[in-house]
Amino acid sequence: MACSSSFLHLLAALLALASWQAIASVPSPLQDFCVADLNSPVRVNGFVCKDPTNVTADDFFKAAMLDKPRDTMANKVGSNVTLINVMEIPGLNTLGISIVRVDYAPLGLNPPHTHPRATEIFTVVEGTLYAGFVTSNPDNKLFSKMLNKGDVFVFPKGLIHFQFNLNPHKPAVAISSLSGQNPGIITIANAAFKSKPPISDDILANAFQVDKKIIDMLQA
Ligand SMILES: *[C@@H]1O[C@H](CO)[C@@H](O)[C@H](O)[C@H]1NC(C)=O
Ligand SMILES: *[C@@H]1O[C@H](CO)[C@@H](O)[C@H](O)[C@H]1NC(C)=O
Repeated sequence: MACSSSFLHLLAALLALASWQAIASVPSPLQDFCVADLNSPVRVNGFVCKDPTNVTADDFFKAAMLDKPRDTMANKVGSNVTLINVMEIPGLNTLGISIVRVDYAPLGLNPPHTHPRATEIFTVVEGTLYAGFVTSNPDNKLFSKMLNKGDVFVFPKGLIHFQFNLNPHKPAVAISSLSGQNPGIITIANAAFKSKPPISDDILANAFQVDKKIIDMLQA
């Protein structure tokens, strides 16, 4: 009896572990921290941990960076993204979180993109933004909102989203948190039209159902 009940306990524990692994995007830490050793030659999923005896408060710190307005005129879309991820703060390794500041010029756009490894919780700290995300196939339903200062909106993990500053006179600023230490960014236009080497214009013309000339124009 004792033997079979401990077997059942083990089975229950294994099943719990298996289902936990199926739902968790970033595994829970198994220690207080695992500060990324960014110089280690060892390749793992994430970064290996630095010797804990060598960890300091600076491994969890980034000096004043998010208070500074960024240049939004240096690119054609009129926005500038400042991401603080595990590369900026090695202490974020394994913790499943990061933070970003986005600056928008008047009429500036943070173009449609997705974070393959993170949900985003987004708050406007200056100005007004029109933001939205689109669900996956087959519905491709757009969920969008006008966001004022202090408003919060969520972009579910992996879904394509954007923000646009509708005000032609005033800039806007947002601060966002992402549920990954390395959320990744895929900008849709760049992935489709600026891959290196380029995707053949035959393929893109067929995929977007437009003339090849339009694809060549977009790629240029
Ligand atoms: C820890 O820091 C000391 C002093 O900076 C250095 O000599 C040592 O190599 C470091 N150890 C590891 C494992 O990084
Ligand atoms: C963002 O702004 C910084 C300075 O504020 C500038 O160096 C950088 O080139 C800008 N990035 C883009 C993509 O425009």
